Amino acid sequence: MYEDIQEVLFTQEQIRARVAQMGAQIAVDYADRQPLVVVSVLKGAAVFMADLVRAIDLPVEMDFMAVSSYGLGATSSGAVDIVKDLSMSIEGKHVLIAEDILDSGLTLDFLVRELSSRKPATLEIAALLRKRGTQKAELSCAYVGFECPDEFIVGYGLDYAERYRNLPCIGALKPEVYQ
Ligand code: PRP
Repeated sequence: MYEDIQEVLFTQEQIRARVAQMGAQIAVDYADRQPLVVVSVLKGAAVFMADLVRAIDLPVEMDFMAVSSYGLGATSSGAVDIVKDLSMSIEGKHVLIAEDILDSGLTLDFLVRELSSRKPATLEIAALLRKRGTQKAELSCAYVGFECPDEFIVGYGLDYAERYRNLPCIGALKPEVYQ
């Protein structure tokens, strides 16, 4: 897998340290906000979520959604369909969305609207990565792991054609791989 990576942006060690910091901060912030439900969007965020929840020293419920966005080409259009819904009600609960990457922000914009309508007590976003200068939707993220450049990024859950999700680091893909 590594031969297809142009540049490692965040090493396994850097990711581990940052996720630990995020989890510790979340544990402080949610000490008086229970029950806490961490929601992740399959598939990319599953890796981040698995590490994040283990860094939060509080009772945490976990749930998952799967959505499909209908875009032309590689960028999403903002039209999102729920393929798999949450398995529980989030009414009155403190919901934290764990997302791997905030690119256009359209996926999260949809999710925030959708989950807000279900009357959670609070709703916040924890994004491991936020691309610089690509957001089309105004979103406030309570927790951001790293800012990253607008490149084709893979690893730690992020894929190209379903590959590289199991790469332990995060890197920019060589252009010749996807062009
Ligand atoms: C990726 C990523 C985010 C979304 C971000 O998911 O996991 O959910 O795109 O893009 P946006 O900010 O432009 O909406 P993808 O649709 O590739 O599905 P996957 O998680 O199954 O890889």
